[in-house]
Amino acid sequence: MSIFPAVRLRRLRRSEAIRALVRETALTARDFIYPYFVTHGRGMRDEVSSMPGIYQLSVDELAADVRSLEPLGIGAVLLFGLPAQKDPRGREAYDPDGIVQRAVRAIKDACPALVVVTDVCLCEYTTHGHCGVVEEGQVLNDPSLELLAATAVSQAEAGADVVAPSDMMDGRVGAIRRALDGRALSEVAIMAYSAKFASAFYGPFREAADSTPQFGDRRSYQMDPPNAREAMREIEADIREGADFIMVKPALAYLDLIRRARQRFDHPLVAYNVSGEYAMVKAAGRNGWIDERRVTLEILTGIKRAGADLIISYHAREVSEWLAQ
Ligand code: PBG
Repeated sequence: MSIFPAVRLRRLRRSEAIRALVRETALTARDFIYPYFVTHGRGMRDEVSSMPGIYQLSVDELAADVRSLEPLGIGAVLLFGLPAQKDPRGREAYDPDGIVQRAVRAIKDACPALVVVTDVCLCEYTTHGHCGVVEEGQVLNDPSLELLAATAVSQAEAGADVVAPSDMMDGRVGAIRRALDGRALSEVAIMAYSAKFASAFYGPFREAADSTPQFGDRRSYQMDPPNAREAMREIEADIREGADFIMVKPALAYLDLIRRARQRFDHPLVAYNVSGEYAMVKAAGRNGWIDERRVTLEILTGIKRAGADLIISYHAREVSEWLAQ
């Protein structure tokens, strides 16, 4: 087969106009879900030191902040809560007057059309910092399901459109689906953190959400990073249990799994561009070591090109501002 000189791939790169014509992947504000950390108090806006541009916000500040998302075209937010008090069973997670439940009501008042996704997990709420019930140093699976289901129900009752379990207990999607349906909340969707790995990239998040485990680590419930086929089994299990969205998390070191999941499943596929991925870009950008804006867009485009339909990203606001310019 003769190639050169008849074939010259540079022809399609000659000018920005031609490049734009043949561009295969385009980011838009609608691709993003923007995460927030909500805290008690009023007028609170504390920057997370390892995540420049990301804040712990009180509910009043949050309600004001979300109003600026709709004009940018961002259609969904994801909420994490910092409770007033922690206890071994994470009570505030399923308290109808808990911090996330209050935040959901405030957002629904301020911006009824914004899709509100709530993180369903116990680690921010428990004294031990694990994502489930702990007994004798073990994170117990089945006793955790009841608390996770109660958390999802109370968030849905507060008005959440989508609940997103991130705990990685077996059977949680099914338990949450049954609990929601049993409370006439069958219209509430489940975004399952299906293939969630025990990752060092969550470091800055644990500062933001104050959710570092007080003993041990999360390797007995979150996935082992080398395992790709097991990730497909996790996704399959969540789909069978009734997941409406599936997720791969983190994104950058797991682009192969985003691609595999895209080829194998037809569910909306979410990728989580996690806190450590954000922090690395911010740190290198601040040092003048990289062109922060170009690197950010290149990473997010790569995640979308790999096959993600939606990207949860701390960059969502700034990128949507750039795209609107
Ligand atoms: C809670 C949870 C975590 C993240 C999302 N939900 C932390 C963890 O599992 O330790 C991480 C998100 C990020 O790093 O941006 N289980």
